[in-house]
Amino acid sequence: MQQLIVFASGGGSNAKALFNYGKKTNAFSIAAICSDKADPGVKAFAAENNIPFHYIPAKEMSAASTWELLQPYNAQLYVLAGYLRLIPEAFIDFCKGKIINIHPALLPHYGGKGMYGHFVHQAVIAARDWQSGLTIHWVTKDYDKGAFIKQVHVPVLQTDTAELLAQRVLAQEHYWYPRVVAQLLAS
Ligand code: GRF
Repeated sequence: MQQLIVFASGGGSNAKALFNYGKKTNAFSIAAICSDKADPGVKAFAAENNIPFHYIPAKEMSAASTWELLQPYNAQLYVLAGYLRLIPEAFIDFCKGKIINIHPALLPHYGGKGMYGHFVHQAVIAARDWQSGLTIHWVTKDYDKGAFIKQVHVPVLQTDTAELLAQRVLAQEHYWYPRVVAQLLAS
């Protein structure tokens, strides 16, 4: 079975979608969930499903002790799912570049430092853009700059608020992220 290590900073709804899909299809399993927060929402989910949880403060991502902790999982892919910190280049090298992220907009627009969650959807609504979506991309040392793996468009409705748009984009994230992960692992 192919193994993922998932990084999440919050509730981890994408981590849950990945877990459920992996379980249903046997395409992969989540070997561990890591967070830059000591007690994020996703920690309880990890405990309920016997997934090891590791709190790794952002400044420790380049530490040899972190790599020694994660190496034994033998993960084929490192998956950022609502993880809000910049990944240091040294950690990308540790992952051999096999690290991906999902962003809730159509990059290269609405990305970069400070553009996450609600801020992204608010910016799309404020710009009166007619479409948004999601971007799954390789992670590089800069926020939201890596090569795209998949983009999915979600129309912006005239009646949309940032919250309504966020819900529809998130539903698409839950559908596509596990499937793209499975495709990457199979290729
Ligand atoms: C998602 O929209 C994801 O694109 C972004 O963080 C949001 C929250 O993710 N990176 P989750 O519910 O914690 O998975």
